[in-house]
Amino acid sequence: MPDAALRDSRPRTPSEVDSFRPSAARMYDYYLGGSNHLAADREAADALLDAVPQVAEVARQNREFLHRVVEYAVQHGVTQFLDLGSGYASPGGLPEVALAHDPSCRVVAVDIDPAVVAQVQTIVRTSRLSGQVGAVHSDLRDLTAILEHPVTQRLIDFDRPVAILCLAVLHFVPGDLQHRVLAPLRRTAARGSLLALSHATAAAPTPTDAPVPPGRAQSIGVSRPDPSTIVRLIYDCTLTPLTLRTESELRRAIGDLDLVSPGLVPVDRWHPPSSGPETVVPPISSLLAAVAQL
Ligand SMILES: C[S@@+](CC[C@H](N)C(=O)[O-])C[C@H]1O[C@@H](n2cnc3c(N)ncnc32)[C@H](O)[C@@H]1O
Repeated sequence: MPDAALRDSRPRTPSEVDSFRPSAARMYDYYLGGSNHLAADREAADALLDAVPQVAEVARQNREFLHRVVEYAVQHGVTQFLDLGSGYASPGGLPEVALAHDPSCRVVAVDIDPAVVAQVQTIVRTSRLSGQVGAVHSDLRDLTAILEHPVTQRLIDFDRPVAILCLAVLHFVPGDLQHRVLAPLRRTAARGSLLALSHATAAAPTPTDAPVPPGRAQSIGVSRPDPSTIVRLIYDCTLTPLTLRTESELRRAIGDLDLVSPGLVPVDRWHPPSSGPETVVPPISSLLAAVAQL
């Protein structure tokens, strides 16, 4: 169980939807071509896509990583999923993919965004999936609340292995990831559990990040911000600002977790389909991914 210290510092989650402020969940849904977004999200996401067009492709790669993780888990006998920072349930999302692999799968989706949780709850209700899928409104750092929530208690047996997913969400968690998130999760999960993560990185500048050529911007002493800075500034307007970590910072956070081969790699390189098309790894703000055996 998580530390008493973590129990005492439970973060607060917003209880209402702020439709004037872009949300990471709705922006991500927009990148994936979904329909759960508002004007503020589209404006922020378009500004971001303008600066870093490969973001939509990275989101798609992340969704494919999710599919490969589910397949890997089910093949290894793990049929319970705790999805931290689940995002909206959409076609090709975790509940649909997991249940297609094995109808006995159980899924608990956890998200800090109340609109996400409401949407998942509606889908669960209308599809009569409440015996297998549930949603919990919580900050993922509040592990005690997640574990004690009736939905989690009803659907997940922590004495058996569970696949804990932290996909494209840990970069919304500032500070010490190891101490705040990964170590408590590790202590909670039974032997044989899996922990999958993907995380946006601040890559080293590439030649394409060269400063603006001499002109007006330079004449007033301004150079174009690098794409990572633009991404960060846009997410600063959301409820969940971004903490881009470098690859070595991420490796330090992962510490001595026992990573499944090939370890921490660009998200499209984790168990890629052998006959799939060659994909180009975007040079900037790429996602790194790994799966650990707990
Ligand atoms: C980029 S989406 C990723 C969705 C999904 N995990 C995937 O990979 O397809 C990030 C999600 O994490 C949620 N989120 C951000 N910070 C969170 C936190 N501290 N606790 C729980 N959820 C969080 C956002 O609301 C959003 O739905």
